[in-house]
Amino acid sequence: MTKQFYITTAIDYVNGQPHLGHAYEKVITDVIARSRCCLGQEVFYLTGLDEHGQKVQQAAESSGQHPQSYCDTLAADWQSFVKKLGISNNDFVRTTDDRHKEVVAEVLQQLYDKGEFYQDEYVGFYSAKQETFLTDKDRNEEGEFDAIYGEVQELKEKNYYFKLGQHQQWLIDYIEANPVFVAPDYRRNEVLGFLKNEKLEDLCISRPKERLEWGIPLPFDPDYVTYVWFDALTNYISTPRSSNKEAELWPADIHVIGKDILKFHAVYWPIMLKAAEMELPKQVLVHGWWQKDNQKMSKSIGNVVDPIEVIDEWGLDAFRYYIVRELAIGPDGNWTDEGFATRYGAELANGLGNLINRSLSMLNRYRDGVVPNPHDELAREATEARDKLVEQLRANELQAGLMTIWGYIARLNRYVDETAPFKLAKDSEQAERLGEVLYNLTESCRFLAVWLQPYLPTTSKRIMEQLNLPAETVNIAESGWGKLEAGHKIGEPAALFPRRDK
Ligand code: MSP
Repeated sequence: MTKQFYITTAIDYVNGQPHLGHAYEKVITDVIARSRCCLGQEVFYLTGLDEHGQKVQQAAESSGQHPQSYCDTLAADWQSFVKKLGISNNDFVRTTDDRHKEVVAEVLQQLYDKGEFYQDEYVGFYSAKQETFLTDKDRNEEGEFDAIYGEVQELKEKNYYFKLGQHQQWLIDYIEANPVFVAPDYRRNEVLGFLKNEKLEDLCISRPKERLEWGIPLPFDPDYVTYVWFDALTNYISTPRSSNKEAELWPADIHVIGKDILKFHAVYWPIMLKAAEMELPKQVLVHGWWQKDNQKMSKSIGNVVDPIEVIDEWGLDAFRYYIVRELAIGPDGNWTDEGFATRYGAELANGLGNLINRSLSMLNRYRDGVVPNPHDELAREATEARDKLVEQLRANELQAGLMTIWGYIARLNRYVDETAPFKLAKDSEQAERLGEVLYNLTESCRFLAVWLQPYLPTTSKRIMEQLNLPAETVNIAESGWGKLEAGHKIGEPAALFPRRDK
């Protein structure tokens, strides 16, 4: 059985509003998934929804619905959001699916049987908004709990706890011995800093049913449901296990997540897995957060970027291009409408679009669209750029990969200026030279279409179509210079990114 490349996103809270941040995570994960596919790997991409917990229960109650039908309605919106982003996910997990609930119960029972849990009474503070217990450490200098915790209530409650203390040292050792486990480096250091400086508190993994019903029952105590994060993290194995694909998929190759949920993925999740005697994922890849115009996006400010609006106005590939090009995976990003329009005009319409259009139009005009004899003037540069791109894709350096592609586009635009095919065309003695130039340009257009497959799948297909070549996945690493054959007739060019005067 061959191991597939298994990549996941975080699962979104079903009651949240799909926005730029969610879209970003799914798109970068998609670019990685498609890259691996274009490098010959079999890929499994999982995304989905986190549907249990107090907030969902409350929201459903206040809209007068049963939580399940409330979730079903919202889940349909999320699924059409995923479609709109053109991502290549192989499955979509909902934590209210029976297949997921069964695996969560199985893992809970396994850890219970192993003695990883104990019951204890807790007296203290609880934030329903964050669904978490608070201690005096969480108070600010004025002795208050931060506004992010919402209304804080005092509680006396019996619950089940997961003994984390005994897992602290091996986890430190593991992260130190496996430097790629958390990327980028500064996130890894953050986790190590936390693990080395603070004693891990035991984790409360239950909520009494009388306070919260909307959750997965503890299989060993029907008066409780499990804590939402225990439930949510388990999605990464519930899908492989319930579809009999654990052997092909586990361990996951990459969990893509945002910086705010690092501790859950780099501390709690590995501990849960180790306790359940499962292998750890190979990497937790942590991206930054988007702001709009240097401000946190929020409904009350009214500055939330709606990906659907952007896609309807500018096209899906333009949206994908901007978010991947603007930001490497790691640092925070800042969306500006001007920045978007500038990149669209300069890099997509004038850079890529114009080059393809010029090149193919010239071949049509001067040679009836028939590819001349192969010539390798640009072969070395194209191959070097390809090898660099392949290396960057393997390292998940998606932004750098786009820069490599656009570096080659700039080179091609210079090539057109230098060789001036429109002048060559006027001189019949230059017919052979014109053929050489046209071959180099057309073959380069094919290279670009191959390289753009993971990033701009629709555009890549459209270039292939204009070249009159089959729209099938081409291995990026194996696609060499000279495959475009003499005598092949290309199709009609059409604008890929129409100019906008804004
Ligand atoms: N349900 C949990 C995750 C459970 S994973 C087992 C959750 N959901 S979320 O809807 O709040 O966030 C989903 C993902 O979107 C997270 O990785 C989060 O970091 C990311 N983003 C949410 N807002 C974001 C931005 N403004 N910018 C970039 N990503 C952000 O957390």
